[in-house]
This record gives sequence, structure tokens and C-alpha cells, in this order.
Amino acid sequence: MLLHLPWSVGFLVLATLSEAKIDRRSIVQQFSLHLNKSDPYSPIQVGNGNFAFGVDITGLQTFIPHNTLSSWGWHNSSLPTTANQTSVVDFTGQDWWTHDRLVNYAQPNPDEKEISQWMIANPHRINLGRVGLWFKGRNVTENMLKKKNQTLDLWTGSVESQFSLDDEEVRIITVASPETDTVAVEIRSKLLDVGSLGVFFDFPYASGKNKFDAPFVGVWNATANHTTTLEAGSRGAIISHELDATNYLVSVDWDVDAVITRPDQNTHRYVLEPSEASGGRFSFTATFAQSSLENIASAADIKEIASQWWQNYWSSGAFISLPIAQNNSAWELQRRIILSQYLLAVNGAGRDPPQESGLVNNGWYGKFHLEMVFWHLAHWTLWNKWSLYDRSIGVYERFLSTSLERAQKQGYKGARLGKMSDPTGRSAPGEINSLLIWQQPHPMYFAEMEYRKSPTEATLKKWDHVLTAVADFMASYAFFNASTQVYDLGPPLYPVSENTHPNQTINPTFELAYWRFGLDIASKWRTRQGNPVPSQWTHVRDNLAPLPVENGVYMLYEGVKDMWSTPELAEDHPGLLGLYGWLPPDERLDLATFNTTVDRVYRAWNFTYSYGWDFPLLALTAARMGDAERAVGWLLDADNKFDGLGMPVGGARVATPYFPASAGLLLAVGMMAGGWDGLNGPVFPAGWNVEVEGFSRAM
Ligand SMILES: *[C@@H]1O[C@H](CO)[C@@H](O)[C@H](O)[C@H]1NC(C)=O
Ligand SMILES: *[C@@H]1O[C@H](CO)[C@@H](O)[C@H](O)[C@H]1NC(C)=O
Ligand SMILES: *[C@@H]1O[C@H](CO)[C@@H](O)[C@H](O)[C@H]1NC(C)=O
Ligand SMILES: *[C@@H]1O[C@H](CO)[C@@H](O)[C@H](O)[C@H]1NC(C)=O
Ligand SMILES: *[C@@H]1O[C@H](CO)[C@@H](O)[C@H](O)[C@H]1NC(C)=O
Ligand SMILES: *[C@@H]1O[C@H](CO)[C@@H](O)[C@H](O)[C@H]1NC(C)=O
Ligand SMILES: *[C@@H]1O[C@H](CO)[C@@H](O)[C@H](O)[C@H]1NC(C)=O
Ligand SMILES: *[C@@H]1O[C@H](CO)[C@@H](O)[C@H](O)[C@H]1NC(C)=O
Ligand SMILES: *[C@@H]1O[C@H](CO)[C@@H](O)[C@H](O)[C@H]1NC(C)=O
Ligand SMILES: *[C@@H]1O[C@H](CO)[C@@H](O)[C@H](O)[C@H]1NC(C)=O
Ligand SMILES: *[C@@H]1O[C@H](CO)[C@@H](O)[C@H](O)[C@H]1NC(C)=O
Ligand SMILES: *[C@@H]1O[C@H](CO)[C@@H](O)[C@H](O)[C@H]1NC(C)=O
Repeated sequence: MLLHLPWSVGFLVLATLSEAKIDRRSIVQQFSLHLNKSDPYSPIQVGNGNFAFGVDITGLQTFIPHNTLSSWGWHNSSLPTTANQTSVVDFTGQDWWTHDRLVNYAQPNPDEKEISQWMIANPHRINLGRVGLWFKGRNVTENMLKKKNQTLDLWTGSVESQFSLDDEEVRIITVASPETDTVAVEIRSKLLDVGSLGVFFDFPYASGKNKFDAPFVGVWNATANHTTTLEAGSRGAIISHELDATNYLVSVDWDVDAVITRPDQNTHRYVLEPSEASGGRFSFTATFAQSSLENIASAADIKEIASQWWQNYWSSGAFISLPIAQNNSAWELQRRIILSQYLLAVNGAGRDPPQESGLVNNGWYGKFHLEMVFWHLAHWTLWNKWSLYDRSIGVYERFLSTSLERAQKQGYKGARLGKMSDPTGRSAPGEINSLLIWQQPHPMYFAEMEYRKSPTEATLKKWDHVLTAVADFMASYAFFNASTQVYDLGPPLYPVSENTHPNQTINPTFELAYWRFGLDIASKWRTRQGNPVPSQWTHVRDNLAPLPVENGVYMLYEGVKDMWSTPELAEDHPGLLGLYGWLPPDERLDLATFNTTVDRVYRAWNFTYSYGWDFPLLALTAARMGDAERAVGWLLDADNKFDGLGMPVGGARVATPYFPASAGLLLAVGMMAGGWDGLNGPVFPAGWNVEVEGFSRAM
């Protein structure tokens, strides 16, 4: 098998060949969650990557309105009515001088304030609804419940919630279907038999008022702004929800006689009451969908299907076992790994790339960022979870036409990928949004990881026109500087760290390296197909400006002043460390200079201001430099926190959760476990007995 791989692939499949021998189940279940009260901020969730349902201590959303979010649920507020700003076509952005010509950027324009802001905040992702226990009109609070005990069994993806009310036990199982956007619930309690327990459904309106809608999404008191209607049968009902142009349905299906009503026509609250002779048990499913679905499985079947799905998830692809019994750091790292794996399958594996807060709450109005796709998705490739990766990686293909238009409008060739995106491929107006460039080579990284896995014609074909279009843009974006005879990147641009003056930023170090990396892979792609490499790509690749060095250390960008003594520059994402770690070494990289740079960053950087994927980035660099202790140290850094539910804490700068920290953790661990070209993994502290299986090797 290996003999058939072309030499250019240049790697061996390592651990994937070894037989699964780690007792995955016992490790996973050690980290199952046990709660005895609701978390007011972070919910336990059930979900399927495209849909997630956050629960409180009752296994539903009884006391706390945790959210129900999806890939498909979005809403537009009404357009502004200000003269000449009533439509997206009225938005003209701003023209900035770019190498002696005016280039139009999608930036908020002071003369177009209303439509600019509308385009930033719309569409926004919506909270599909709330499902909770109903106590026959009685005002039950969480304090009145006794013997509260909730478990999320990670191995089967099911939540079991128990408590007693008035000395009667209530037991609730909650799962999400892996196939439809359905939450399936089974309730057991004698309270059902006496008619004092039911279920309510409620629906909020949506607004684009808050960039961060956390922890709760939606507007609950604007009941007059939206409508719901009920169509009820004896074993099921459909509730239709209309918010302006957005429509969807909730199909509720149950298994014993029950009635559903809307007690107050001025609210959107519906109550489902099982008949008093229910035999102490009641099951229902609530399916959220854009149009009505046939043949929704029963709650019991969904529980079984979900259990199979989760067991298969844990059993396939890679796994790592750390010495959790011997070492607290290993235990905490294993906890983060397992909980991140659960949370990313729920929140980070949908039709579109995930938003930073997944399907827990809304950040940036629920939109997703194309420069963050690398951090969100790369780990799947190392962990060999390709089916989850495949769900959203088609975004480059889907957004190709808008990317081609964007480049053309600016006078460049090829396709320029956008930034803060909604499912239509529109990039939200923003100065930073329009001037970041590090999202461009991501498709090259992904294509290459796929080719290493499947070096086939089909893989080459799949990525060919995306890589060609993006490489065309990259080559045409680089500006040939006649006096220095090299190609410059910028100005204007924002580097990874978003903390420089865009009109002065030229040749940021990381971007230069990544540009070469991207053009290199695009060129190989042509060669592998027997096609000539466009000479412009080669010329740009070979003549990009050198990586800027000052006093023997790499700099943020060429000519940056007082970088190490200016607080705002020696903080935020330490992107330049991505030269070696995140990226494989380029022949231009001088390792001695890099080594001095790393020492300098360690001494000068304000790491308390770092967040999210900065820590995995640092870990990747430390690991590639052979410093496993330090790599683990970064992953467990005091400023890189994960809460009790495994949610990556946003800190002072962004809301919790901030999933790039989880996905980045799995990327770093994946590289440390599977190794990279030129090194056979694993790379973990001496004395740690680590077992790994099923990882792919990184570049
Ligand atoms: C609830 O759980 C916490 C920690 O998980 C524990 O410290 C506390 O004693 C528990 N409370 C009750 C009432 O069992
Ligand atoms: C919101 O409006 C934009 C611009 O008109 C449109 O492209 C998009 O499809 C709309 N989205 C929703 C969810 O209505
Ligand atoms: C709107 O545009 C028209 C021409 O298209 C122009 O005459 C008018 O002054 C503009 N109004 C405002 C408020 O900018
Ligand atoms: C950058 O230059 C453009 C002119 O090309 C100017 O409009 C813009 O305000 C400048 N940006 C900053 C941040 O100074
Ligand atoms: C229910 O009880 C809680 C706590 O006593 C109180 O804050 C809340 O206002 C009550 N709600 C209703 C609808 O009576
Ligand atoms: C909590 O429930 C789980 C099963 O879901 C059970 O294994 C555990 O013993 C229970 N804990 C307590 C304190 O009742
Ligand atoms: C809804 O609640 C918000 C926030 O509490 C408040 O500002 C607003 O006035 C309320 N709107 C209505 C219609 O009650
Ligand atoms: C609800 O509609 C009213 C009347 O159109 C409007 O003034 C209000 O802002 C809307 N509320 C929200 C939250 O959009
Ligand atoms: C756990 O491992 C770390 C990393 O090697 C090490 O620094 C620490 O001393 C170990 N702790 C124990 C208790 O062995
Ligand atoms: C050429 O490069 C030099 C050095 O980076 C820079 O100062 C100059 O502005 C560049 N020229 C143009 C036309 O961009
Ligand atoms: C740089 O190299 C020196 C000498 O080999 C070594 O002591 C130091 O740890 C290296 N720095 C880093 C950040 O790896
Ligand atoms: C480092 O960042 C923190 C914010 O997290 C800030 O409060 C502090 O002043 C910064 N320190 C320096 C030396 O700039």
C-alpha cells in the first residue's frame, strides 16, 4: 500500500497502522460531567454539529434560557429607512490608496453609517426556541428541587438529569439526533400521573443589537414583533414561527395522549400536558427545521441512534491516552482533550465553519470568520475525523463566486476570500475585516493535508480551481517594488495581530512565509496534474520580500518602530512564531534567528493579554523546537482557562466559550501525538507514558 504512494508525498502513515488498543471508553467516561446545579453561564449541551441545545439542571431549559442554535437559523432586521441607505447596493465602502491606485474596501463609510451597521449586524443567528418543564402554572424555582444530580455521558451523548420535587422523583433523559435537528426527551415521574408536570415551548424574537449575545440569545419581550401558530393533532403538533422574512417549524411529537395549548395569545408560550394516566413516563421529540420533515424517529430510537453515533465518534480516528493517574498536568490536559472533542463535535462540525462561540451563544452576531477556519478545522485532519471536516470545508468552493467578485472589484486577479461571513458569502464591512490577508493561504493547507491522506486524481480535481483562483489573487496582490526588486505585501493591510497601523504595515513576517507556503502548494498542485505553473506565481514566490530581521530577531513587519518596547505591539497574537511550528520550515527561515526571536518573545510579550489560539500557537512552536515541557506548559497556561464543563474561557476580550482555543488545543496535541515531516511523534514530556493511535502526520 505504502509503496504506491508517490515519492513527493514524502511521509509515512504512522500510528494509523497500529491496531486500536487504548481502552477509549474508560478514558472518555472518566471525564463525563456531573453537576448538581445549573450553570448560569455555560450550559451542558446535546447537539450534532449543525444544531445544539443547551440545558440547565433539569436537562431542559426550565430555569435558565440556554440557547438552541443552528447552522441554518438566521434573521434580517428591517433595512434602514435613511435616504440612500435602504439597500445593500447603496453600500459603497471606502477607497484607500493602495500602491498608487484607489482600491475599494468593504469598510463602514461615515456617509453610509446606517447601511454599514446593518450589513455588519445582519443576518444574525437566531435562538430557535426554549423547551422547559411546566409545573401546572406553579412557580417552581431551582431551589425547590432536591437531590439534584445530572450526568452527561460523553460516550453515548446523553444527559441524565434527576431531582425530586415534593418528594417525588423526576428523571429526564435528553439527547440530540445526529440526523435531524431534533432534541429527544424522556421523562419519568409520578408527577406525570397526577397532571402536575408538562413541558413548555417558547420563542424569542431576534435582533442584531448585540455583537456578543451571551449568555442568552434573542429578545423575549418583543412578543408583538413576531408570530407563532399552532397546528395540533393527538400525537403531535407543528408550531410555525415567523420573524419577518425568517420562517421555520418545530415539529413536536409525543408518545401518549397529551394536549398542547397556547394559554395566552399574547405570548409565544405553548404548554404540552400529558394525560393524567401516562404511567409515569412521557417521551417527546422537538424537531427544528426550515420545512416540515417526514418520519422523525421516536425518542427511544433517537437515543439509540445517538448512542451509536457517539460511540463510533470516540472509536474512530485518533486517540491519545496520557498518564492521568500519575500526573495532574496530564490529567488536566486529558480532560481538556476529551471535553474539547465532545464540544467540537457538537459546536464545530456544521454546514458552515463554526462561529467562535459555536452553537452555545452568539459572538460577532453569530457570523464566522474565514481567517479562523484554519484554527477551527485543521485538527480534524490530524485526528482523522474526515467526515466532520468534510461538512464545512466546501465553504471555499461555495464562496468562490463572491471571492472572485471581491478581487475583481478591487482590480486583482483570482479570488480574494472574505472575513466575517454569513452563509451567503458576504463579508461584513470592517476596516480590519477588509484588510486582513492571512485567510488566503488556508485552502492550500487543507488541500495538502487531504492530498497526504488521499493522493488521488479526485483530490487534485476537487481543489484545483479553488487553489488556482486563490493563488492568482495572491500573486496579483503582491506588489512588485521596482526599487527593491522584490514583491511586497501591503500596505495597506492588517497582520494576524490586528494591532498595527494598516497604512504603514508592509511585509509582515508571518504573512510573507504563509504566502510562500501557499504559492508553493498551489504550484505543486499544477505540477502533480502535469500542468505548467503560471510564471507569475513562481516569480512572486521566488522574489517575495525577505523575512524582516532587526538586530538578529524576526520582526512583526518590515520597518516596525520600537516593536519590543511598545506595549500594543508586543502583545496580542504572537503570529510571527507561526513561522516554525504552525508552518513547516521554509528554506528562507534561519533557525538561529528564529531561536533568538522566540527567546525575545518569551521575555517581552505581554502574555496576560493573550487568548484563545495564542496558546496552541505557542505550543506548536515549542513542540517543533523540541521543548515538550514548554509545549504542555502553554496548553495549560494560567491564562488559557477551560471551565468545569470544558468550555474555553474567553477572558477579558471575548465571550465564553471561545472555541478556537479548543480546536487549537486539539491541533497542537494532534501534532505532538502524530509528529510532522522529519520527526516521528509523539512529543510529550520525558517520563510521561503516552499512548497514541490513529493520528496523521503534520507537515
Ligand atoms: C455539588 O457538587 C460540588 C462539586 O461538584 C460539591 O462540592 C458539592 O458538595 C455538591 N453539592 C451537593 C449539595 O451535593
Ligand atoms: C438577509 O438579507 C441579505 C441581503 O439582502 C440576503 O442576502 C440574505 O439572504 C438575507 N438573509 C436572511 C436570513 O433573510
Ligand atoms: C440621495 O441621492 C440623490 C441622487 O441619487 C441625491 O440627489 C440626494 O442628495 C441624496 N440624498 C442624501 C440624503 O444623501
Ligand atoms: C489610510 O489611508 C487612507 C487613504 O488612502 C485614509 O483614508 C485612511 O484614513 C488611512 N487609514 C488610517 C487608519 O489612517
Ligand atoms: C417565581 O419565584 C421567584 C423566586 O421566588 C421570583 O423571583 C419570580 O418573580 C416568581 N415568578 C413568578 C412568575 O411569579
Ligand atoms: C447521579 O446519577 C448517576 C447516574 O446518572 C449515578 O451513577 C450517581 O450515583 C448519582 N449520584 C448521586 C449522588 O445520586
Ligand atoms: C424589553 O427588555 C429590554 C431589556 O430589559 C428593555 O430595554 C425594553 O424596554 C423591553 N421592551 C419592552 C417592549 O418591554
Ligand atoms: C418591534 O417593533 C416595533 C414597532 O415596529 C419597533 O419599534 C421595535 O424596535 C421592535 N423591537 C425590536 C426588538 O426589534
Ligand atoms: C507532571 O508533568 C510535568 C511535565 O513534565 C512536570 O513538570 C511535573 O513535575 C509532573 N508532576 C508530577 C507530580 O510528576
Ligand atoms: C519599496 O520598498 C521600500 C522598502 O520597503 C519602501 O520604502 C518603498 O515605499 C517601496 N516602494 C513602493 C513604491 O511601494
Ligand atoms: C535557543 O538555543 C539555545 C542554545 O541552543 C537554547 O539554550 C535555547 O533554549 C533555545 N531557545 C529556544 C526558545 O528554544
Ligand atoms: C498586559 O495586558 C493587560 C491586559 O490583559 C494589561 O492590563 C497590562 O497593562 C498589560 N501590561 C503591559 C506591561 O502592557
